[in-house]
Amino acid sequence: MKLSLLFPVSLLFPVCLAGLLSPRPQIHYSPYSPTHIPQPSPPRTKTCVVRSLGHGRDDGPAILRAARKCNNGGTVVLPRGQTYTVGTALDLTFLRHVDFDIQGKVQFTNDTDYWQSHAFQLTFQNATTFWQFGGEDVNIFGGGELDGNGQVWYDLYAQDIYILRPVILGIVGLAGGSVSDLLLRNGPFWNNIVVNSTDVVYNNITIRGGSTSNNPAKNTDGWDTYRSSGITIQNSDVQNGDDCVSFKPNSTDILVQNMVCNGSHGISVGSLGQYNNTYDIVENIYVYNITMINASDGARIKVWPGAPATLSGDLQGGGGRGHVKNVTYDTLHNVNNDYAIEVTQCYGQKNRTLCNMYPSELTISDIYFRHFTGTTSKKYAPKAGTVICSSPEVCGGIHATDIDVSTPSTDAVYYTCENVDDSLLELPCRSG
Ligand SMILES: *[C@@H]1O[C@H](CO)[C@@H](O)[C@H](O)[C@H]1NC(C)=O
Ligand SMILES: *[C@@H]1O[C@H](CO)[C@@H](O)[C@H](O)[C@H]1NC(C)=O
Ligand SMILES: *[C@@H]1O[C@H](CO)[C@@H](O)[C@H](O)[C@H]1NC(C)=O
Ligand SMILES: *[C@@H]1O[C@H](CO)[C@@H](O)[C@H](O)[C@H]1NC(C)=O
Ligand SMILES: *[C@@H]1O[C@H](CO)[C@@H](O)[C@H](O)[C@H]1NC(C)=O
Ligand SMILES: *[C@@H]1O[C@H](CO)[C@@H](O)[C@H](O)[C@H]1NC(C)=O
Ligand SMILES: *[C@@H]1O[C@H](CO)[C@@H](O)[C@H](O)[C@H]1NC(C)=O
Ligand SMILES: *[C@@H]1O[C@H](CO)[C@@H](O)[C@H](O)[C@H]1NC(C)=O
Ligand SMILES: *[C@@H]1O[C@H](CO)[C@@H](O)[C@H](O)[C@H]1NC(C)=O
Ligand SMILES: *[C@@H]1O[C@H](CO)[C@@H](O)[C@H](O)[C@H]1NC(C)=O
Ligand SMILES: *[C@@H]1O[C@H](CO)[C@@H](O)[C@H](O)[C@H]1NC(C)=O
Repeated sequence: MKLSLLFPVSLLFPVCLAGLLSPRPQIHYSPYSPTHIPQPSPPRTKTCVVRSLGHGRDDGPAILRAARKCNNGGTVVLPRGQTYTVGTALDLTFLRHVDFDIQGKVQFTNDTDYWQSHAFQLTFQNATTFWQFGGEDVNIFGGGELDGNGQVWYDLYAQDIYILRPVILGIVGLAGGSVSDLLLRNGPFWNNIVVNSTDVVYNNITIRGGSTSNNPAKNTDGWDTYRSSGITIQNSDVQNGDDCVSFKPNSTDILVQNMVCNGSHGISVGSLGQYNNTYDIVENIYVYNITMINASDGARIKVWPGAPATLSGDLQGGGGRGHVKNVTYDTLHNVNNDYAIEVTQCYGQKNRTLCNMYPSELTISDIYFRHFTGTTSKKYAPKAGTVICSSPEVCGGIHATDIDVSTPSTDAVYYTCENVDDSLLELPCRSG
């Protein structure tokens, strides 16, 4: 019996497809569980196999057809051993009860002109995505690889910082679902974003990449969460060059646990307050059991001040309102990070006087750092971190307990603490 392209083979299952399909993911939440466990995902009853065309021809349209055909209860399979080229932006936000069993390798084309005009706009920081998955009850898994072909983007960005770079995997408007057992490689920009979504878990994701030219791979965040709630990110291994996980505006009820991050900018709240006249909320975040290696920061909270500030041509802002509340970083092991902890309400504004003159409109409260271990890098030693608020009126309730982080220096370790109630910080604080 021969499987034809996209032939719905539900009747043949399991006789012919046993061995073709990956087992459906059984995701365990451990040691913490999200506050709201997603509904169980019902079994799938039909299968659509996509064969690659080969020779760099565009497999995008066939993947889209398979998604339509297998919508409402099916599994789209990209079998192992196959390499898929995707040169078409794929809007997969119509999905209901669909699995994507990605065993093979998907590589996005390096046609930067096409992607800049066709990738989906995500309405935040000019982020776009190659493809977007959304709808209800969608699982993406299979042991395969998604390759963003980032090098051409790193080189182009070095010439023009205003190019629009795509995220590898965009989850947009998804209610319930999972992304697991995948390798993401060579992201042109952020690797994952989850927007307008609820109850989504990421499990066992590996992120790799980096530039092979002199132009760095910039902004290669592992995850960004935005306008989303009930998101779990766990058991993953990230090597990248920007935030390992970043909680962007309106990220609530997020659990991040059991991660190894190497080369990143830490697990970050923000940046927030970038856009004047918007209200950003980051609330009820639990970050547990992180090994952070070779990063600029372990735990980080970055908030823009109340007056305009500039970090770079393509990153400026300030004046936005909002709040960061109830965020816990519990058990973080530092290996060669520049700072173990960095809190700033002066993001983008190096002039502290100017920052304090226009305090942030975005408040910080109920923050907990506990059980930090390890050693920082020598970059700022013996300083191991900073907690800098723009005014105690808009920043308080920051607690640090059991912080046992050393530096390579023989001088006594200290933290810079400004405009903050340091009686709650069991840290060797110094001002200035
Ligand atoms: C784009 O990809 C094609 C096929 O993989 C390759 O031959 C070509 O050299 C790449 N172009 C650039 C600018 O990287
Ligand atoms: C998310 O939802 C908001 C409000 O409905 C909408 O304006 C925005 O376009 C959505 N974002 C994306 C990326 O779809
Ligand atoms: C997008 O980039 C342009 C510059 O190309 C900038 O003016 C604009 O503010 C950016 N938009 C967002 C939402 O960051
Ligand atoms: C994690 O995902 C990889 C594929 O990226 C897979 O090979 C491995 O078996 C998975 N690990 C577990 C524990 O399932
Ligand atoms: C912490 O995370 C590591 C993986 O990075 C895992 O091996 C270990 O079991 C986790 N510890 C706990 C207590 O869950
Ligand atoms: C971290 O990344 C660097 C280079 O990017 C690599 O040399 C090192 O082996 C990695 N460390 C771990 C623990 O993976
Ligand atoms: C965040 O949520 C608040 C309250 O619902 C809303 O006013 C604000 O517009 C949202 N911000 C974003 C960036 O979606
Ligand atoms: C704080 O957030 C945690 C989840 O991280 C949640 O379990 C707890 O109920 C929240 N506390 C309050 C007071 O909302
Ligand atoms: C940190 O990065 C350096 C340079 O990339 C690498 O040689 C080293 O192995 C990394 N450290 C760890 C612990 O991975
Ligand atoms: C924010 O917008 C208000 C009114 O439009 C303006 O007065 C203020 O200067 C702006 N602030 C920043 C930081 O851009
Ligand atoms: C910082 O800003 C203040 C207030 O505008 C100004 O007086 C001072 O010269 C600035 N300092 C530097 C180093 O630019």
